[in-house]
Amino acid sequence: MKGIILAGGTGSRLYPLTKLINKHLLPVGKHPMICYGIERLRAAGIRELFIVTSKMSAGLYAEYIGSGKAFGVKVTFAVQEEAGGIAQALSLAEPYIVPGERFVVLLGDNLFQDDLLAYVSAFEEQPSGEARVLLKRVHDPRRYGVPVFDPERRERILYIEEKPKQPQSNYCVTGIYMYDTEVFRHIAEIAPSARGELEITDVNNAYAHSGKLKYDILQRWWTDAGTFDSLQEAAVKLWGVQL
Ligand code: DAU
Repeated sequence: MKGIILAGGTGSRLYPLTKLINKHLLPVGKHPMICYGIERLRAAGIRELFIVTSKMSAGLYAEYIGSGKAFGVKVTFAVQEEAGGIAQALSLAEPYIVPGERFVVLLGDNLFQDDLLAYVSAFEEQPSGEARVLLKRVHDPRRYGVPVFDPERRERILYIEEKPKQPQSNYCVTGIYMYDTEVFRHIAEIAPSARGELEITDVNNAYAHSGKLKYDILQRWWTDAGTFDSLQEAAVKLWGVQL
């Protein structure tokens, strides 16, 4: 299985830091943020990675990660010219994926402790054309994509609401997704949102509406490090971690 890390976007919630450098190269503890995602994928046995970066700092990625050799993985890079949304960034990986192949997608600002192996194995058991997302119980669901569960069949996500004002559950859809090549068909069929982006939540809802979205719940610590508070929290939590 391959891994895709999405590290494009503008990181505007971390201005002015991210006016200088791509968010996923900011230090978290003793390493640049991107390194934790690489390590989590590698620990799950995923050694072939596709990393999407922004134009800004693209050279720094090449300099720091290179071919991936020092990290025990093989890396291919792509540059997202403009922040067209998570689903648009993911679409850049289409030529890299072999028809029928399955892969894990990680948002580069998602930092977590769970081992992905069990979740990846569960996804491998699903029929082709389905997807799997990882959820996390959170205190502030309004910041995230929030699943609405079927009240009669709790194992089924009916749909996901992106940053709802009145969340219908205490869970967030984390930036850890599992797909096969069917995802590119769904991306091609969605339209840009009000903010002009191709939203990953619209893609996941295409699966949910046809009952093809399964999920697991992360058991250990997780954060997205896209705000100053969460970046600070991540730095404290991961301070002693040596990769
Ligand atoms: O962290 C989990 C959340 O991530 C989910 O709960 C939401 O459903 C999902 O939409 C996303 O929300 P955010 O508002 O946190 O997304 P953000 O715009 O911060 O982008 C997250 C990462 O995705 C970012 O670190 C890099 C990548 N990205 C984002 C955009 C908009 C790209 O590679 N290209 C992009 O154009």
